[in-house]
Amino acid sequence: MSNIGSYEKRKENFSWDIAKQVLGWKQGEVLNIGAMCSDRICAQGKGDKKALIWQGFGGKQKTYTFNDLRVLSSGYAKFLQDLGVKPGEKVCLFMDKIPELYISFLGVLKMGAVAQPLFSAFGDESLEVRLFSADTKVILTTRKHVKKVRKIQDRLPALEKIVVVEGNPNKLRDEEIFFNVEDAPVEDFEVYKSETETPSVLHYTSGTTGQPKGAQHVHGSVWGQALTTSWVLDLKDDDIYWCTADPGWVTGTSYGIIGPWSLGVTQCVLDSGFTSAAWYQFIQDNKVTVWYSAPTAIRSLMRDGEELVKKYDLSSLRHLASVGEPLNSEAVIWSEKVYGLPFLDTFWQTETGAMMITNFPGMKIKPGSMGKPFPGIEAGILDLKTNEPVTEPGTVGLIAFRPGWPSMFREYVKKPDIYRSKFVGASENAMPPELRTDKSLWYVSGDRASFDKDGYYWFVGRDDDVINTGGHLVGPFEIESALVEHEAIAEAAAIGKPDAVNMEVVKVFVTLNPGYEPSDDLELNIMNFIRKRLSPLAMPQEIEYTEKLPKTRSGKILRRYLKALEWGEEVGDLSTLEDD
Ligand code: WT7
Repeated sequence: MSNIGSYEKRKENFSWDIAKQVLGWKQGEVLNIGAMCSDRICAQGKGDKKALIWQGFGGKQKTYTFNDLRVLSSGYAKFLQDLGVKPGEKVCLFMDKIPELYISFLGVLKMGAVAQPLFSAFGDESLEVRLFSADTKVILTTRKHVKKVRKIQDRLPALEKIVVVEGNPNKLRDEEIFFNVEDAPVEDFEVYKSETETPSVLHYTSGTTGQPKGAQHVHGSVWGQALTTSWVLDLKDDDIYWCTADPGWVTGTSYGIIGPWSLGVTQCVLDSGFTSAAWYQFIQDNKVTVWYSAPTAIRSLMRDGEELVKKYDLSSLRHLASVGEPLNSEAVIWSEKVYGLPFLDTFWQTETGAMMITNFPGMKIKPGSMGKPFPGIEAGILDLKTNEPVTEPGTVGLIAFRPGWPSMFREYVKKPDIYRSKFVGASENAMPPELRTDKSLWYVSGDRASFDKDGYYWFVGRDDDVINTGGHLVGPFEIESALVEHEAIAEAAAIGKPDAVNMEVVKVFVTLNPGYEPSDDLELNIMNFIRKRLSPLAMPQEIEYTEKLPKTRSGKILRRYLKALEWGEEVGDLSTLEDD
């Protein structure tokens, strides 16, 4: 049984090699995430164990064993190889949370290509930006989503093949390939001999400026993902685990595929819209024991109240965790009251690949705190002015980590300068390999926090203008760029405004070009115009028309000023909001 001592003990005797013991991985075995999550589990004698319990719309169910994962993922791997895909090339997975997504993810990795999962609700422009940036070679999608690919394929010179892996094969275009893996399982596939530094998964994330950036991960990330899954999510052999995240986002791959399956644990996936009742029913039906979710969902569950909880038998649950946004103390206290278990907050990012600051099973929980740095992670708070690590508890500064943890991103695709800018202390020409091993540097996350006298970290807010809506990061620049393309709009500023469920939703301030007046018609027209360009998550909930936007002396829009007004916060001395 874990207790507070175990966190300290694990910290003292820590080495990432412990991950190898936890996984039962021996030196000389191939280090390939695809194989580690399927072939290796079968070799451990767990081929007949359930790997995936899937439920779709209308209660449709499918179950796959680890042996099914093995032969079907090899089916995808062989298919891609035969198609001419080479190791290191990018294969996009653009599907709902269907079994094909999870299994093809392993297949792509098994043959050495890079898996680039994208959220299926993305519109064609969001998709285009990410496929173009990555020079994606092949896209695996479904009959339902192929239409979006058709709209943009002519603008994607690197895209060679469009493959439909699910749905009705009729009425596809000549150049589109239909592939049903169930007809083509492969028994013996020679897995690509990847190594620690071989690229594995590519996720896109948003920043304040420019288009989304591709954070490239490597096969060696598995040490971090497996160990945090074991120690923080506390997954054991007989658990039934449910991660509610979509693999279009990093939580859905690091902890919705790699973590649980590398440990040979059964997991459930629910691919239907959210209702509290449906979620409780799913936990009850599948006897879920460990549940990893997000504050937005938890707030929705809270809103639907305790009476609903009582209608279901949730007694199988033994451990809950959360990620993506600040988990308010009310949510922790509420969950302890109604489920008998607190949600354990975990902090990390697309770039970190795995949990960095976490509550630890058995460790005293301080509701509202993110917990402590995971053993093996050296975290600090950097002074907002000097960038030096602070020593005084309670001082607010930048959350930072010493480089070198296994699941750390290795680059932003084609953006070495932005990658470098994330490391405090980096010399002007430092390149990714040194940046990620130089222990004198600090990787800065873009968030502000403080630690208390017991070493617990308390989240304060983003240090930049990135908007966190329901656990998804949205860059203001993407929204503003889409808006100013509209003929009526002169300038635009996007900020997050408070929202009871999503924490923040997008609000935009716009100035209009001469000859345009605010009206309902114009608003509808603007909304329809940007809907095509933005992901649904980035759509503004409110447009405010203004004569003028506040700016710095050098002409940068002062989003923070607008945000302070919106949140009813002290605007303060405007000079502190000047250029930085
Ligand atoms: C950003 C990373 C990898 C998790 C999914 C989101 C915010 C994440 C917490 C938390 C407060 C949090 C931060 C972070 N965030 N976890 N426990 N408390 N904020 O991955 O899209 O890369 O977002 O989400 O702002 O930097 P992501």
